[in-house]
Amino acid sequence: MDQLKDLADQAQKAFAKCQTVAELDHAKAQFIGKSGVITDAMKQLSQLPNNEKPKMGALINEIKQNIESLLNSRKDQINLEVMEEQLKSDKIDVTLPGLKQAQGSLHPISLTLNRIEKIFASVGFGVAQGPEIEDDYHNFTALNIPESHPARAMHDTFYIGELVLRTHTSPVQVRYMKEHQPPIKIISPGRVYRVDSDATHSPMFHQVEGLWVDDKVSFANLKGVVQNFLQRFFEDDALTIRFRPSFFPFTEPSAEIDMSWNGGWLEIGGCGMVHPEVLSQASIDPDKFQGFAFGLGVERLTMLKFGINDLRPFFMNDLRFLRQFAR
Ligand code: PHE
Repeated sequence: MDQLKDLADQAQKAFAKCQTVAELDHAKAQFIGKSGVITDAMKQLSQLPNNEKPKMGALINEIKQNIESLLNSRKDQINLEVMEEQLKSDKIDVTLPGLKQAQGSLHPISLTLNRIEKIFASVGFGVAQGPEIEDDYHNFTALNIPESHPARAMHDTFYIGELVLRTHTSPVQVRYMKEHQPPIKIISPGRVYRVDSDATHSPMFHQVEGLWVDDKVSFANLKGVVQNFLQRFFEDDALTIRFRPSFFPFTEPSAEIDMSWNGGWLEIGGCGMVHPEVLSQASIDPDKFQGFAFGLGVERLTMLKFGINDLRPFFMNDLRFLRQFAR
């Protein structure tokens, strides 16, 4: 009996010595494990006279519960100590230099496209988009490009079965005019594709189309809009442009746009007054409305702006090249 009463004290002392949960489990076995003292005492109950059994049983149970609660509180204590130890050693040293996060930057072509959209937006042009995989009708037929035109040949255009990778942004003119009546005042920037590859040509490149159709839009407006754009794009009020007579099936008259550069002239795109046939194709009455269209080369503008003399690095994903445009 007395021996049993001491058990709780003994257990407390034994548990206090344990430093880990494993040690504690070991100590627990001595008291309330399968062959522990308490379990033994339970077994011996049967040998007691019947009138002593209940009292003794209750006592043993009480001691067992006591030991269990001692065990649990020591376990909580050990876990807490372990956690505190961990927190101490895991402490963050705020004086260490930080880990640098790699930050992406915009591709030079994207920088140019953003700049183009901003400048044209400031003079009232919205942005329209069209598919890069086009049909023959929108890329050629609706633009008045005849069956026999060289651009329709396999060696100039990528064909995907019946479809084509658009060879210019001009099909967006047709798509937009079919859905909107004048006044129409949009640009359409995007990727275009041609079978062509050397230092100044890439099979994929970018154009920005411009289209302004209303009742009195003239060639003079075309000159004003394009010159104003280029002056602002290159931040040069003295920049001038000249038109060189040319031919496009979808404009009449047509011209190449040259801009003044280092004492000479550089071609930067094509333009003209939208051909009446193209207006009719798009259900716009050519007797009521007229307007101009132009197409500028985005790579060319970017190369001039940043002083790059080869077009290929734009699409080679060389970080040494691209990082130079990070802001
Ligand atoms: N689409 C023509 C080209 O890619 C350029 C152009 C656009 C010409 C609009 C006139 C009007 O060469």
